[in-house]
Amino acid sequence: MILVLVGPPGAGKGTQAKLLCARFGIPQISTGDMLREAKRSGTLEKRYLDIMDSGGLLPDEAVIGLIARRTVEPDCSNGFLLDGFPRTVPQADALDELLASQGGARIDAVIQLDVARPLLEERLIHRRTDKLSGQIYHLVYNPPPLGAELEHRADDRPEAVAKRLDAYEAMTAALLPFYEQKKLLHRVDGVGKPEEVTHRVLSAIGRPGSGGE
Ligand code: AP5
Repeated sequence: MILVLVGPPGAGKGTQAKLLCARFGIPQISTGDMLREAKRSGTLEKRYLDIMDSGGLLPDEAVIGLIARRTVEPDCSNGFLLDGFPRTVPQADALDELLASQGGARIDAVIQLDVARPLLEERLIHRRTDKLSGQIYHLVYNPPPLGAELEHRADDRPEAVAKRLDAYEAMTAALLPFYEQKKLLHRVDGVGKPEEVTHRVLSAIGRPGSGGE
């Protein structure tokens, strides 16, 4: 199964990705996580680091290469969930070409999480991530346990958040008609408890009560 999660920053892609991947037994492939890992290990080029921290999008070729290398790893043989890729129409075209060149697998569903902008801003500014496990918390709705070693993302500062939301509206929103035309797009309300949102996603993709592949 190949799933794609799209939606603005803070829509809950990472949160839903973890819940859906556990259900279907497929790996989560998050370009944001891969780039942050490269940043931590000091292998991310300085020009990309600056773009990321300020809330801009990296050039398409930088992220397409990451996906091309990751999707041929053995744990992807039964499918995967893409979180944060594609984000532009050229990236979506590149994904189609990549899948065709890797044996012709097809995307099963593209899920768009809908959340209004004021709530997105509120979610991002209060997000904290566990440095060791990657678990995502919200200081108010889903507070981290005492003693957790937390990270506050550089791009969750208010000015970077505004830039990321603008970039989504300018670039990524164009993906929606692209996938709508291919009859792959499922729009899901992303407001509510994470488990409720997961339930809506599973219903939308025709897998209600799904417990695994
Ligand atoms: P990336 O890491 O992909 O960031 P993003 O798309 O901005 O999305 P976020 O991770 O901010 O939000 P999310 O939707 O995953 O929400 P989350 O579940 O964490 O990318 C970062 C950067 O990398 C980009 O800006 C760009 O520079 C670069 N990049 C990455 N991919 C790229 C690409 N393809 N092309 C070019 N550049 C690329 O939830 C957010 C908060 O809300 C959390 O606190 C969470 O606890 C809370 N929350 C989640 N769900 C709920 C709920 N249902 N109710 C209440 N609170 C909730």
